[in-house]
Amino acid sequence: AGLVVAMDGPSGSGKSSVSRGVARALGLRYLDTGAMYRAMTWWMLRQGVDVADAAAVAARCGEPALVSGTDPDAPAIHVDGVDVAGPIRQADVTGAVSAVAAVPEVRRRLVALQREIVGDGDIVVEGRDIGTVVCPDAGVKVYLTASAEARARRRSAEVTGSTVEAQQADMARRDTLDSTRTTDPLSMAAGAVELDTTELTLDEVIAEVLRLVKE
Ligand code: ADP
Ligand code: CDP
Repeated sequence: AGLVVAMDGPSGSGKSSVSRGVARALGLRYLDTGAMYRAMTWWMLRQGVDVADAAAVAARCGEPALVSGTDPDAPAIHVDGVDVAGPIRQADVTGAVSAVAAVPEVRRRLVALQREIVGDGDIVVEGRDIGTVVCPDAGVKVYLTASAEARARRRSAEVTGSTVEAQQADMARRDTLDSTRTTDPLSMAAGAVELDTTELTLDEVIAEVLRLVKE
């Protein structure tokens, strides 16, 4: 089977940027599982489903057709044929995604889709439960961290019109929900290497992961 690199960590720790850089350097595919939870959430909001109602979310989560691209140079995600790469980053989706991702039926469906895409490997997969649940046999497992302030600073540099303080509060709320939910909470997998990126540049983090792959 081909190589699987599992990349987990809280929001803004650098998972997407590092995963894409590593995939590009090694000619691997790339899967953003967070985009799949966001796409499911975008669809629920559009359908008018109350995302605080776990039973309603569970009842409808089998309906949307989700298609994820795996090209690190052109991450793509479609819901029922609609390109949602832009809308899934908007504040309404970000505010609702952790509630949707806490519903066990949602996770069961998306984890199955993710394992199908991973298939024989040759892929870098990023998320919250990749090393623990989706790909427990991954050849390399990385757990990225950074200080809450550094993560908020990075994210607010990407999102226009948001302060570092507002970002930090939103991330703290999401991190708490993601780490305390009963089904597959964010946690460091057995055998994962923890990398604190607070004082590192993106290129330094990518180089460190490439070194772990070559070991
Ligand atoms: P995540 O996927 O974990 O939410 P992202 O990959 O979206 O994180 O990273 C957030 C931002 O932080 C990106 O714009 C990235 O370029 C920037 N960044 C700055 N320094 C670093 C670093 N040392 N490691 C990773 N990303 C960094
Ligand atoms: O954009 P950010 O890095 O902050 O988050 P993301 O990776 O796009 O993930 C969005 C949300 O999806 C997370 O806050 C989790 O609630 C959920 N998620 C999850 O539960 N499991 C995953 N494997 C990936 C994301």
